[in-house]
Amino acid sequence: MTSGIEVIQSIEALRRTITQARRDGHRIGYVPTMGGLHQGHAALVEKGLERANFVGASIFVNPKQFDNSDEVATYPAGFEDDLALLEAAGARFVFAPEQDEIYPQGFDTSVTVDDLAAPLCGAHRPGHFDGVSTVVTKLLMQCMPDVAVFGEKDFQQLRIIQKLVQDLDIPVEILPCPTVRETDGLACSSRNRYLTEAERALAPMLNPKLVEAREALIRREPAASVSRNVIAQLTDAGFGSVEYFELRAEDDLRLLTAPGAPARLFAAAWLGEARLIDNLPV
Ligand code: PAF
Repeated sequence: MTSGIEVIQSIEALRRTITQARRDGHRIGYVPTMGGLHQGHAALVEKGLERANFVGASIFVNPKQFDNSDEVATYPAGFEDDLALLEAAGARFVFAPEQDEIYPQGFDTSVTVDDLAAPLCGAHRPGHFDGVSTVVTKLLMQCMPDVAVFGEKDFQQLRIIQKLVQDLDIPVEILPCPTVRETDGLACSSRNRYLTEAERALAPMLNPKLVEAREALIRREPAASVSRNVIAQLTDAGFGSVEYFELRAEDDLRLLTAPGAPARLFAAAWLGEARLIDNLPV
């Protein structure tokens, strides 16, 4: 039984809680999630607490950002565990709406960020970032926090959210949070639960490959051949398709042939049923 964390299901009740918290002089922090929480989410709450003193999360599995409805149905869930993790991290409220609260009958609006959503995951998951942009816009407008925290593991998502907040004049500061990793280097992700034991043993290879690639780029090897070599090594080791392994600029995500401007290596690869993504600053 969890106490001390308020569970809220309607937008109206959320607004009441936030209004009261503001009257009490609090600064509001918000961590949108889809549940299936892990230490990476705890770090988002803790990051929010660096800049706000009344931090909450949302738990909403957003159907608009999934390619098929099976994925929505099987998305990791465990509400009581999620509440316990959020409370231990210092969260004060959880907004956990039903589908109809977010997308009532007749809902007909979509938020699209064009250029930033085109490459990387956007090229492989059509419509995904429209779904993310639409729900994040709604979640931010409903709560109107002072700060909202998003992880750098989903760096493209983070950049898209920063852009929509800027373009739509939403008065919230977006705080990036560094990727949290398991002790063997695998980036924490709700999807890691889909890995079999053998796949889980192989999965941490992605991060050292990013590190090796960064070293090769620093030695001035051309980005295209570095990527080709790493993709071959990953598939030889047993990864399924490697969707991308690319050097891109942090600001507009344009493809780079060599490091220069602030840049990151971005990777997405399938391992069994799990699609793993990771990135590393170069
Ligand atoms: O990163 C996620 O968990 C989701 O994409 C988000 C930001 C909560 C939107 O549904």
